[in-house]
Amino acid sequence: MKHLVLTAALLLAGTVEAQQAADTVAPEGAGAGGFEEMGGAVAAALDAKAAGRPVEAAEWMVAAANPHAVKAGADVLARGGTAADALVAVQVMLGLVEPQSSGLGGGAFLVWYEAATGEVTTLDGRETAPLAVTPRLFQDAEGEPLKFFDAVVGGRSVGTPGTPALLAEVHARWGSQDWASLLQPAQELARAGFAVSPRLAGLVAGDAERLRSSDATAAYFLPGGAPVSAGTVLKNPDYAATLETFAAQGAAAFYGGSIGRDIVATVQGAEGNPGVLSEVDLAIYRVKERPAVCPPYREYQVCGMGPPSSGAVAVGQILGALEGHDLSSGPLDPEVRRLMGDAGRLAFADRGRYLADSDFVPVPVSGLIDPAYMAERAKVLETDRSLESVAPGNPTFDHALNWADDESIELPSTSHISIVDAAGNVASMTTTIENAFGSRLMTNGFLLNNELTDFSFRSHRDGVPVANRAEPGKRPRSSMAPTIVLRDGQPVLAVGSPGGSRIIGYVVQAIVGVIDWGLDVQQATAVAHAVNRFGAYDLEEGTEAVTLEAPLTAMGFEVNTRALTSGLHLIGIGEGLTGGADPRREGIVLGE
Ligand code: DON
Repeated sequence: MKHLVLTAALLLAGTVEAQQAADTVAPEGAGAGGFEEMGGAVAAALDAKAAGRPVEAAEWMVAAANPHAVKAGADVLARGGTAADALVAVQVMLGLVEPQSSGLGGGAFLVWYEAATGEVTTLDGRETAPLAVTPRLFQDAEGEPLKFFDAVVGGRSVGTPGTPALLAEVHARWGSQDWASLLQPAQELARAGFAVSPRLAGLVAGDAERLRSSDATAAYFLPGGAPVSAGTVLKNPDYAATLETFAAQGAAAFYGGSIGRDIVATVQGAEGNPGVLSEVDLAIYRVKERPAVCPPYREYQVCGMGPPSSGAVAVGQILGALEGHDLSSGPLDPEVRRLMGDAGRLAFADRGRYLADSDFVPVPVSGLIDPAYMAERAKVLETDRSLESVAPGNPTFDHALNWADDESIELPSTSHISIVDAAGNVASMTTTIENAFGSRLMTNGFLLNNELTDFSFRSHRDGVPVANRAEPGKRPRSSMAPTIVLRDGQPVLAVGSPGGSRIIGYVVQAIVGVIDWGLDVQQATAVAHAVNRFGAYDLEEGTEAVTLEAPLTAMGFEVNTRALTSGLHLIGIGEGLTGGADPRREGIVLGE
């Protein structure tokens, strides 16, 4: 019953509180959001989504979490911009209209397929721990883990933002349009004001107390003391000014300039919970190109983000364990779910033990996704019951090191962007400020992340260090899994989702949905979720997934029913392009 023991361990460190908060903020629903008034292609895209139809196009396509952002990207693609240009326009618009999820105060991972060379490149724009942190960052004087929100709210959890540097890097490598022109639409909308969406309004209302903890944040989201309501026109002149500076000075404004100084002052000055981020941390920040992790699944290569994300390794391990099984009977077959659930538990056991920033700890990536290792580990699935206990395996390791199991917590925010341009370049980027509204600190019109709480709160267990412990200059382990699936070297699917550590299950299910269940990309976003991260099986409440409760319980699984608010954005690439946007959020797909 080791998994139960570890589940119990995860209930430490304020996880119960965190879980309750997740329950209160998750089911805000997609809602129409008043976006119909944007008219034209946006209205048509909303109709397609409401009808459960994929969007089809021949040339280019963009799928993301908010119609304003998708429209900004589509306008760039329509005038001949690359996927990189569009990505910049989408991200800076998301920072305005979906500020709780991602933005210039956060970090992101990009998987990029370059049509001209056939190469897949992955860029790591993850937030980084300040040089002054210690492994006991989230512990009290006795070495006990802090309560989750005591750690999140304030300056302590803020890592050096990576998104501004990543956007500049992406544009420098693959962009073709004038930099300032990509920031312009968000700048204009920030000045003119945008209608607060139902989803944003619901999240603000649910988090009002924490948003009050900082004056700037409260003034923006709770003007006059009350949460902004849906439909309110919200202006963000500070964000417009930030974009103006970003347009003029590039990323230097964040990593040495006036905006950077404001970030540091906000973090160090956070009342009650100051952080140690310094101007040196900003000055030394670098986007890192990492080797793409491309494990096989059937006749496909599933390319994604390696460490410090656990995304590609865990997605690959789950698919690897399923490789020998026929899953075609679909998502409501309990046997299919038994296999997917226990494959998930096996992958999460390895993730908890081995995955961390590979610049600090040796991570056995190739050992973990070695088909022979995965096949050996999958042998335990040859049963008809849920596995009684699940422990990490022993992948081939080029270092004789042993780590203790991790303890960290993740909660809803984050956004996924999928783009294909007319030249056939593909961008799959997952972007985040971690928790909804991040650290709740705001400066220059954007929120600062709380990404450092993705480190393990426990630095050691029984004297054995945890791989994902906080260390100076280290990047916290992520679950983000931006993915490009290829067949014979050609991209066939771009996919990714928010959802904390459930991202891994959401992405696996979407890939299996398209490859094994024969779903179109819109159907694949909408499949009722069943996700097993390590302990209990989570079934999506109010959906047909709850029919799995009795059979999975009979097999020996512990089962929970709850809201599972993924935000999947898929683009299928073949003769033409097809796009799907998760019905659980406000996103759409546009293409031409
Ligand atoms: O990097 C990660 O894995 C998390 N910080 C992502 C957070 C997230 O997806 C919240 N989800 N809805």
